[in-house]
Amino acid sequence: MEKYQISENMNETVLELTKIVKRFPGLTANDNVDFDLKKGEVHALLGENGAGKSTLMNIVYGIYKADSGDVKINGKKVEISSPRKAIEYGIGMIQQHFSLVPSFDVTQNVALGLKDLGIIPDLSKVKKQIMEISKRYKISVDPDAKIWQISAGEQQRVEIIKLLYVKSQIMILDEPTAILTPQEANGLFETIREMTKNGASVIFISHKLKEVLEISDRITVLRHGKVIGSVKTNETNENELAKMMVGREVVIKIEKKPSKVSGEILKVDDLHVMNDKGLEAVKGVSFDVRSGEVLGIAGVEGNGQKELSEALYGMRNYRGTVTVEGIRVKPGNVLDRIKHHVAYIPQDRKADALCGGLPIYQNLFIKAFSSPSMSFNPYFFVPERLRSPSLRFIKDYSISASSVDLEVKFLSGGNMQKVVLAREIGNNSPKLIIAVHPTRGLDVGAEEFVYNVLMDQKARGAAILLIAGDLFEIFNLSDRVAVLYEGQIIGYSQPDESHLEEIGLMMAGVKK
Ligand SMILES: Nc1ncnc2c1ncn2[C@@H]1O[C@H](COP(=O)(O)OP(=O)(O)O)[C@@H](O)[C@H]1O
Ligand SMILES: [Mg+2]
Repeated sequence: MEKYQISENMNETVLELTKIVKRFPGLTANDNVDFDLKKGEVHALLGENGAGKSTLMNIVYGIYKADSGDVKINGKKVEISSPRKAIEYGIGMIQQHFSLVPSFDVTQNVALGLKDLGIIPDLSKVKKQIMEISKRYKISVDPDAKIWQISAGEQQRVEIIKLLYVKSQIMILDEPTAILTPQEANGLFETIREMTKNGASVIFISHKLKEVLEISDRITVLRHGKVIGSVKTNETNENELAKMMVGREVVIKIEKKPSKVSGEILKVDDLHVMNDKGLEAVKGVSFDVRSGEVLGIAGVEGNGQKELSEALYGMRNYRGTVTVEGIRVKPGNVLDRIKHHVAYIPQDRKADALCGGLPIYQNLFIKAFSSPSMSFNPYFFVPERLRSPSLRFIKDYSISASSVDLEVKFLSGGNMQKVVLAREIGNNSPKLIIAVHPTRGLDVGAEEFVYNVLMDQKARGAAILLIAGDLFEIFNLSDRVAVLYEGQIIGYSQPDESHLEEIGLMMAGVKK
């Protein structure tokens, strides 16, 4: 194939999608989507989880084949049948999961993507080029570092260098900030600006309003696979975008009400927890949470959050002590937590909180089966009798389901989370709530619901430990914030935007 010529004129359309349709069994992921990209612009593709953003871009990148619709590059209709084809057309994509070889170093990984390197590749040439790109685009990487040794943020920078090395002109970045500290995200934005200044065009996929407003020139909103609208970034705002995403008015920022903070509920002392590989993931963590207080735990994912939350809820063994209202709970014992009115909203609601194959009403009462009062309760012997008390939860938590008999696996993410909340919170006035990424994958409307439930619980006097990846979620809900870095609490800060910089530095391991 001839080398593809990308337009030299800024503002010329480099990519145009018309009426793209992509169906998966049972759903239409892209429903007649139109989208265009101009030279030198950042066009954000905004939408909630499941809106169809990745699918659309996977079509552009040749991973999926559209059922119908046209793709034009520089006004010419093309068939992009594979990523290799896409790359030939000057398209590069950084997916949510990277494709680097962990045991190779940065230079070797960049070289892997090149095709005319000869039989004996000259890696020193590649390295020199990487250093030039890194300087020109302000991308900090060490060409000699092995992939397994570097952070997720640096791995992403390697992926970007790979695209710049082959002079991609259309860059697709799929939710690139999800794994970055705020400072790394700023660095990425600077690089993106350098790229567009040099004539590249960027499609920036995200579900975060703030960052889309910060980095893009135009925004196209997808909802349930359809384009809701395209707007110029400087002519819109958070509220309008949220409404486009969800289809109704939403309150983005909740009012953080002060509550009466009283006695200590959770006390964690010198906690050590191993990960699944047998390495210490939590290395001597101590903290406490009091009644009426939300302690937020911030940090880049993979710094011990999972192990910490599982240990606290008794799903994972540990060394050290955990007390709830002054009483020491046993390691590796969930029943003990249930007995002490600890509620748990896990990161992976499908795997750790719900039984997908059981009906809603049984999921709502599944934990009650362990309590003595329940096992002597006639309901226990006739689970069907739980149907009618379930109706109250369906109503109180506005779970949209056709019946309480519906198997949980058929619910949307937001409704699944409401079932979890109803069971964990609606059922038993918890003293302590451990919430891990409680709004991950939820739409803005369901997010608002979760926030309100947690704030009501705080007002009622529950102690809440909030482990979250999204700093704005932490800012929205917490009274104090601790930063977890490499299994330790590296410091505390105030949960507001004026401390973003300080928190970001701690997330990167820099002590106050
Ligand atoms: N390979 C697939 N097979 C079946 N369904 C899929 C597949 N990929 C995505 N989907 C579904 O298509 C919809 C859109 O997904 P996706 O494009 O990943 O959304 P987004 O990137 O906006 O979060 C979702 O409902 C998702 O579950
Ligand atoms: Mg996606």
